[in-house]
Amino acid sequence: MSTLVLYASLTGNTKAVAEYIAEKTNGVAMDIKNAPNDLSEYDTVIFGSRVHAGGVSKPMQRYIGENYDILLQKKVAYYLCCMFTGDKAEKQMASAAASLGIFNGTYFVAGKKLAADGKQIDEFIAKLDSIGIGDMI
Ligand SMILES: Cc1cc2nc3c(=O)[nH]c(=O)nc-3n(C[C@H](O)[C@H](O)[C@H](O)COP(=O)(O)O)c2cc1C
Repeated sequence: MSTLVLYASLTGNTKAVAEYIAEKTNGVAMDIKNAPNDLSEYDTVIFGSRVHAGGVSKPMQRYIGENYDILLQKKVAYYLCCMFTGDKAEKQMASAAASLGIFNGTYFVAGKKLAADGKQIDEFIAKLDSIGIGDMI
């Protein structure tokens, strides 16, 4: 069983973070456009979306909706790649959580730079250990 990181990225930040997480967890990073129909080989699924005018990836929202019952049997988390910080970022996170149906996540600013250093993403990965099956979504 392994980790799948599904990302929606335009300028590469979200993708860089996804690839970093996949490398660290011995998992796989995949564009949401190529998301698999069969999730049986993964026990953890991480969704990473860029934020555009406050909103997250529509294909990602759709995919989660279509696979909700299966995702309830897995560890699930999300991250956003955005430019806001502080209160604005927290509000954006809450809104993203509601629209994705996943209620535990984090945000990263300047994803490509973070992936080069890694420390902040490592903290997110460390938290994945404490996630229970189905309690993230
Ligand atoms: C047209 C546009 C709209 C954006 N809207 C937001 C936004 O509402 N909130 C935010 O925090 N960042 C916003 N951003 C910043 C991006 O979310 C941020 O640069 C992110 O890292 C991009 O991810 P990507 O490189 O994976 O595409 C916007 C960027 C663009 C180009």
